[in-house]
Amino acid sequence: MTEPTNPRLIHFAEALPPAQKYNLHLMVSASLEMLANRLEPGKPPSAAWTTAVRVLARFGKQGAERMGLLPPIQVVLPELRREARAMEPTATRLAASSTKPGGEVARELARSRALRRIIESHVKEDLRPLGECHYHFYFRTGDHVAPHVDSAQTSYLNCVIVVDHDAGRDGRRHSALNTYDERGGRTRVPLDKGEAAALYATATVHARSPVWEGEKVTILSIGFGPR
Ligand SMILES: [Fe+2]
Repeated sequence: MTEPTNPRLIHFAEALPPAQKYNLHLMVSASLEMLANRLEPGKPPSAAWTTAVRVLARFGKQGAERMGLLPPIQVVLPELRREARAMEPTATRLAASSTKPGGEVARELARSRALRRIIESHVKEDLRPLGECHYHFYFRTGDHVAPHVDSAQTSYLNCVIVVDHDAGRDGRRHSALNTYDERGGRTRVPLDKGEAAALYATATVHARSPVWEGEKVTILSIGFGPR
């Protein structure tokens, strides 16, 4: 039998002033990696995991949708690749990945009305640019990002773009964007090179699974807010 979830904690967020709500979101996000490490395939998750995912669901919409190859991205993809390659050597190392704010090419794409319109048509919601625009590099064996959520101030909805993805030494592309549900289930969002996904990043638990030996992934994320 599993422990009961905590309904008071699930509704707690709604009663908090904005600053405290922000702190609660950060704290729950920070607990996800440890809770995810205890998930076992085929077994029910801990009550703590289910409670955490339900608390986060109070912070926005949930879900991720593969949008495929989008024309406004396709026309600048070679330039994005060049920009990303030039920035990679000076990217900031985080826990198990590296990051760098987008350069002029990425920022121009983040401002593109055509891109925003296409995303809006996919998610059936009007959006506004939040100015968030970062490259994420996964180039050392095992590089990944543990399950987490993103701040509502930068990433209510993220447009996740696979700028580049080189296969590992075994010829396969292992690493992927994954989302998690309250039952501990994990869903792989299948994206090829150049493709994009719309991810409700503030309320959807998500991760990047590890790169294999020789595998290399470059992502550009662009943040949008609700209008
Ligand atoms: Fe994220």
